[in-house]
Amino acid sequence: MKKFSVVIAGGGSTFTPGIVMMMLDNLDRFPLRTLKLYDNDGDRQGILGEALEILLKEQAPEIDFLYTTDPEVAFTDVDFCMAHIRVGKYAMREKDEKVPLRHGVFGQETCGPGGIAYGMRSITGMLEIIDYMEKYSPDCWMLNYSNPAAIVAEACRVLRPSSKVLNICDMPVGTLRRMSQIVGKTPEELEVRYFGLNHFGWWTSVKDKEGHEYIDQIREYVSENGYLTQIEVDTQHTDPSWQETHKKAKDIIAVAPEYLPNTYLKYYLYPDYVFEHMQGHPEFTRANEVMQGREKNVFDHAREIIKNGSAKGIAFDIDSHATFIVDLARAIAFNTHERMVMIVENNGAIANFPDDAMVEVPCIVGTDGPEALTQGQIPAFQQALMFQQVTVEKLVVEAYVENSYQKMWQALTLSKTVPSAQIAKELLDDLIIENGEYWPELR
Ligand code: NAD
Ligand code: LMR
Repeated sequence: MKKFSVVIAGGGSTFTPGIVMMMLDNLDRFPLRTLKLYDNDGDRQGILGEALEILLKEQAPEIDFLYTTDPEVAFTDVDFCMAHIRVGKYAMREKDEKVPLRHGVFGQETCGPGGIAYGMRSITGMLEIIDYMEKYSPDCWMLNYSNPAAIVAEACRVLRPSSKVLNICDMPVGTLRRMSQIVGKTPEELEVRYFGLNHFGWWTSVKDKEGHEYIDQIREYVSENGYLTQIEVDTQHTDPSWQETHKKAKDIIAVAPEYLPNTYLKYYLYPDYVFEHMQGHPEFTRANEVMQGREKNVFDHAREIIKNGSAKGIAFDIDSHATFIVDLARAIAFNTHERMVMIVENNGAIANFPDDAMVEVPCIVGTDGPEALTQGQIPAFQQALMFQQVTVEKLVVEAYVENSYQKMWQALTLSKTVPSAQIAKELLDDLIIENGEYWPELR
């Protein structure tokens, strides 16, 4: 089998060790000849890079491994770029979550004003790594799961329309794992129909390969328990704040009981609840939970490996939920026609929705990339919510391209999470100051 060369962009990410461990666990399906880490923060990446170098020497010495901040070294001779960058890192995520609270609005990584602010920062970083990839390895594919995925995907559509960038999110994967537990199946045994935008969608069917439909059984379960399951099968979303979110799905499904909702809809359907909840502990948001949890654990592990000069007995956890990234790479490399929920240009997949919207739908993925499966007509309630939200996402990208203060104000005003144009303006002025050089100048 062909061996691949992979670069991980955002090498200093808290997800890097788990994804490297997952790839080592999948070498029989996706063999590696080279693995590189690339980041624009050499100090942060250096800690993970040094630890992974020790680990790879012990566990997979046949793979050439390096970590670098030099784009030419990183992006030359690579087949796949796995991209998980966070422009502004956790310091800025914390601001995305806390600045809106000053204005009576909740703050979140990808939804509402926090997501809009993060989107504005991410576009520059994403364009930078796409351009490096195309310059040094024109045949390379980027598997992108950097957030906020909806705005990043729209920016790619507008600004790099022919680039080989595949946008995918782990939330549909994680929730399917929960659904499979609810019905006593494995995720691989189930096939879904789904429509929406990223972090804004609904499952309309969950069937096994024999065609048995489970949606009614799962709807009944979610109406009582949300997506809380007995055993943690979705290893990515387990912290206390996530348990709260899984539970809240029972209130989301109550509004539109015919389909199974994406958990992120809580931010759009219950913004007042989320705000009040955050007011209870305004100094401790999700960013703090991750910094004190995942980030601390991952970097503590790395430092211990470096101190011992060996990874024996201190191996990083395998991010087994991230196997979808290998499935996607294999689909491209081996034309497997894997069925995956991805973020793609609509072009009729949702019949009563604009062609040029970036939507999240099941796709068949092969050598030429994803082909969307048609999901037909969607009901007016979901269609209207989606149209409002996709217009917010488009306005953010237009504001970025045109340096337009006006469009950014409109984006914040239109967001279902912001109560008025006045608050949107006050928020925008605050976000401009807090984001400084990370944002293009808005005039
Ligand atoms: P993190 O801050 O730990 O890591 C991000 C890394 O990106 C940092 O080391 C930072 O220096 C680097 N970076 C920022 N801008 C860059 C640029 N222009 N070029 C190169 N590197 C750059 O963040 P994290 O919590 O590990 O998340 C990383 C990303 O993955 C986020 O966008 C997050 O939303 C997304 N994400 C991925 C998954 C998944 O399934 N893997 C799940 C949830 C979130
Ligand atoms: C993370 O940091 O894990 C995220 O990107 C999603 C979340 O859990 O808030």
